[in-house]
Amino acid sequence: MSCCVRPPAPASVRPAAALTPASVAPALTTRRRRGAAVLLAALLAGCTSGGPPPDPSERRARELLTQLSLDEKIQLVHGVGEVPEGAGLIPGIPRLGIPDLRYVDSASGINLAGSGATPLPAPIALAATWDADLAEAYGRLIGQELRALGIAVGLGTGINLAREPRNGRTFEYMGEDPVLAGVLAARRTAATQQEQVVATIKHLGFNHQETRRFSSNSVVDERTMRELELLAFEIAVKEGRPGNVMCAYNLVNGLKSCESPYLIETVLKQDWGYPGVVQSDWVLAVTDTERAALAGLDEEQPGSLNDFVGSYGVQTFFNQRLKAAVQDGRVPADRLDDMVLRKLRTLYRIGLMDRPPGPRQPIDREAGHRLAHQIATEAMVLLKNDAPAAGSTPLLPLQPAALRSVLVVGAHADAGVISGGGSARVPPPDGIDPVPCTEPERQPGPEALFRACATYYPSAPLHALRERLPQAQLRYLDGRNAAAAAEAAAAADLAIVFASQWTSEQVDLASLALPGPTTDPTNHPYDQEALIRAVAARNPRTVLVLQTGTALTMPWLDAVPAVLQAWYPGVKGGEAIADVLLGAVNPSGKLPLTFPRGESDLPQPVISSTELDVVYREGLAMGYRWFDSRGLTPLFPFGHGLSYTQFAYSGLSAAAYGRGGVELRFTLANTGAREGAEVAQVYASLPASAGEPPQRLVGWQKVKLAAGERREVVIRIPRERLAIWDTGAHRWRVPSGSYTLRVGGSSRDAGAQSTTVRR
Ligand code: BGC
Repeated sequence: MSCCVRPPAPASVRPAAALTPASVAPALTTRRRRGAAVLLAALLAGCTSGGPPPDPSERRARELLTQLSLDEKIQLVHGVGEVPEGAGLIPGIPRLGIPDLRYVDSASGINLAGSGATPLPAPIALAATWDADLAEAYGRLIGQELRALGIAVGLGTGINLAREPRNGRTFEYMGEDPVLAGVLAARRTAATQQEQVVATIKHLGFNHQETRRFSSNSVVDERTMRELELLAFEIAVKEGRPGNVMCAYNLVNGLKSCESPYLIETVLKQDWGYPGVVQSDWVLAVTDTERAALAGLDEEQPGSLNDFVGSYGVQTFFNQRLKAAVQDGRVPADRLDDMVLRKLRTLYRIGLMDRPPGPRQPIDREAGHRLAHQIATEAMVLLKNDAPAAGSTPLLPLQPAALRSVLVVGAHADAGVISGGGSARVPPPDGIDPVPCTEPERQPGPEALFRACATYYPSAPLHALRERLPQAQLRYLDGRNAAAAAEAAAAADLAIVFASQWTSEQVDLASLALPGPTTDPTNHPYDQEALIRAVAARNPRTVLVLQTGTALTMPWLDAVPAVLQAWYPGVKGGEAIADVLLGAVNPSGKLPLTFPRGESDLPQPVISSTELDVVYREGLAMGYRWFDSRGLTPLFPFGHGLSYTQFAYSGLSAAAYGRGGVELRFTLANTGAREGAEVAQVYASLPASAGEPPQRLVGWQKVKLAAGERREVVIRIPRERLAIWDTGAHRWRVPSGSYTLRVGGSSRDAGAQSTTVRR
């Protein structure tokens, strides 16, 4: 094993056009000088493989490594098992200034009861903003709160693609497109780490369903791996530079992910030059000390104090077992050194050695809740907004002056907003869940670690609506009696039905229909679909507000004129929903995953509970690529989302950009009467010889325009977005031929503009 680790590729490739000859020359000279210093430093550090340069973190890490005993090295590569305050702990080594490293889940905020941390909207909601600046703000807030709480590692950004929308963890991830997920995850990760805490990106890879998650085997070909899921990781790793990458529970092509030399050593460490730590997922991710260590795993979590007793009744492998393997040469001492070096270099680089986590400080609750509110409003996707009767205007935004009586019904809208479960759950900030729920009895064990009761935050849409509609009478019914709700709806000027879908780690959804008493009696004790139909049948002015963690099927859609998708909207969700319904905020979210008409349209119509092999027969045709390839009409396509205003695209032109990229220019006009934001999306169709699905997302920009405003928009598509994975050469290649580029408001926008370029 070489002692040198290549640093990651530059954060982003700057357009060559931006470099003038005068600016290039000094840059080269400086680079050459730095190169010489680097070579010298590398030689001094005993590194002879000719790789690039140890930076100061590298030098300090190498020096510290020489001072560690074997036992201390072993101590740094495994956790000590279950801990009361968080998900894991690696005790520090005070004599060398190595701090205690506490690990806490932070997918949607920090999962630490009593911490007061901000429950942000779920990551799927963040993805629906399509806004990298908001992803940065999201990551920064999590970093600041982790810092304040004295936590070293946030188990944060999950970017497994939504290959299977019934996956119970879809809400924790960023949708079905690798570029969207990768770019947002990168910005989020970098921002968290600027606060001097380590951010983990997870779960490498192909962790696409919870059914038999410890033993299912994702069977997927090289090209599909590289162009989809691994591309999301590649972008997030190279641009976000996470300190840690977590491998997954499942197997990939026959090997546990955490024991896969291909995923860890070849792809992550060699091809992408990843210099950080590969940590395992939590239980049953590792099965063999040598296999994991030699595949490149650097750390086992949660580990245990004694491998043979183990946490959760499960044995572990990186404590006594690893020590014995190193002592008798089954795992080379160099490999252990590499594991520790990766950890130390990460701690130095991110700043934890110089500024160790301190005692708990108060959290800036107001700032957190403000950001949660903003992201929730920007994430909402207006799925449908028809006029309730011929000749009238679309039902949303609501017109307060015309409303004297409003019925609000269902989904605990009088108490709060729902959130997802599992490790990504964030407890209510004051410890009070406004919706009582009794946990059902279950068998103990690693398969039943998490609550089956949904968590709610006390941000009641009903109260927020009352505040914003002081002149109207608002009546609330809980939805259990559909007939009574229908009666009340008939007597009201407007009905707002709230419906929800609880999802969680550990359980996949049986279907994408709204859950009810047969599918999730704990959280959804009445038939939500029947309620919607009953209310809408008696009042054509019915608005539906959805809080879900993934796509839904909507056999009742024709009955309802307006549907707002609010996702899991976080701690200020009720206020955010009311703001959008009333038009204080014009919705601008776009779907980060396709909503199918029915499960039979999915590549895998059912999730088998018995088959261990999950075969990716669809190949490259994941998500919208599947619907496009098959000519299927989705219920709502990827990228869809309406506004209270309208946008028009015109004048598209293309020019060369950088080395083989394309610069697109077009005019975007807000043709309506309100200010609004549009996510202009660029899709590319590759030459037929490439053998690709019909189109892929290659770029986007969120543009805010005043009523009537027109603006020229420039979107640059780097060359790599046009590349395909060459399985012969095992590298990216841009096929020559003709490329069609389309810009529009969704992946199926009839008003999209298109142009053709040759490469
Ligand atoms: C999940 C991880 C999580 C870990 C620690 C596991 O069950 O798969 O995403 O970070 O638990 O809570």
